[in-house]
Amino acid sequence: MTDTTNSSPTLDTLLSSFISDYSAQFATARDEPSLREARAALLGKKGRLTELLRGMASVPPAQRKAMGERINAVKDTVEKAFATRLHELHHAAREAELHQTTDDLSLPGRTGLPRGSAHPILQVRDELLELFRDLGFAIGETPEVELEENNFTRLAFPPDHPATDMQDTFWVHVDGAPADTRTLLRTHATPIQVREMMKHAPPLAVVSSGAVYRRDDDVTHSPMFHQIDGFLVDEHVTFADLKGVIQAFCERLYGRETQTRWRPSYFPFVEPGAEVDVRCVFCAGVGCRICKHTGWIEILGCGMIDPDVFRHCGVDPERYTGFAFGLGIDRVAMLRYGIPDIRLLFENDPRFLAQFS
Ligand code: DAH
Repeated sequence: MTDTTNSSPTLDTLLSSFISDYSAQFATARDEPSLREARAALLGKKGRLTELLRGMASVPPAQRKAMGERINAVKDTVEKAFATRLHELHHAAREAELHQTTDDLSLPGRTGLPRGSAHPILQVRDELLELFRDLGFAIGETPEVELEENNFTRLAFPPDHPATDMQDTFWVHVDGAPADTRTLLRTHATPIQVREMMKHAPPLAVVSSGAVYRRDDDVTHSPMFHQIDGFLVDEHVTFADLKGVIQAFCERLYGRETQTRWRPSYFPFVEPGAEVDVRCVFCAGVGCRICKHTGWIEILGCGMIDPDVFRHCGVDPERYTGFAFGLGIDRVAMLRYGIPDIRLLFENDPRFLAQFS
């Protein structure tokens, strides 16, 4: 007959009650601290299982081994249950964090800061460069502080040319510097020809853009302004190629029916040289304030590259011919937007610039 009056539970019942009690407590622990607390009640310094192990000393040696094994087995089971539940809790916490509704970073800000946009000069520059790129030109660059040699001498400017005058040019070098190291703020974007031809053998077709500097300051002249300059060199290049490229460019810029007018002109680095006008896009040639009642608007300078320039850049003028052209970006922008004073472009007044965003 089983003794039901025995109030002290046997070791087996005690151990299995540990297991069921603690696995139930682990399962209901809602967070890591309460889980750790439940574990400590059993396995901590004063935990029930720890105390039981401590009591082993008083167990007769014959039973000690078997009892120790059973207690340790329970300990393992509880530790495993603890680790599993801890992992579950971590996982659940991470999931909750991931699914939390966080701030929507794509919403517009509350301060109402206006969106910026490219400066009108840069917008026009990109558009012009793209037209030349579509026509097959590569895009190159030259420094704003340029050697006198590249800006003037190799481009066949005679030493006494007025453009080289102190009054016209911002010289950078210190007084007395040797001639071949004298520097200035480039007065035009034309040194692209020199730098490209000295680096690469023809065929070449390159355009370049950037700020250029002259000692000028009035409604239509700023000491810093922007140009695009380009050139093409190969065997058998003729003036007809120049006309074809410039005509295609003007039509793309101002429309299919755009008429051009070519006037002979002088630039030291081209022979022959020309200036090109387009039919006034504002009055269609009738005459208006913008075209100064001539019906034409001057748009660029161009010509066939002077054989001296080829010689100065190590290109054989007997074998190669080429053309060059240069235009003012600011001027194209002023005409396009009807801007009456070039200085408006450089004052950075947000009320002015906002009109081009
Ligand atoms: N560099 C000239 C200027 O600033 C413009 C120019 C004219 C560029 C004729 C050229 C050219 O490449 O062929 O006034």
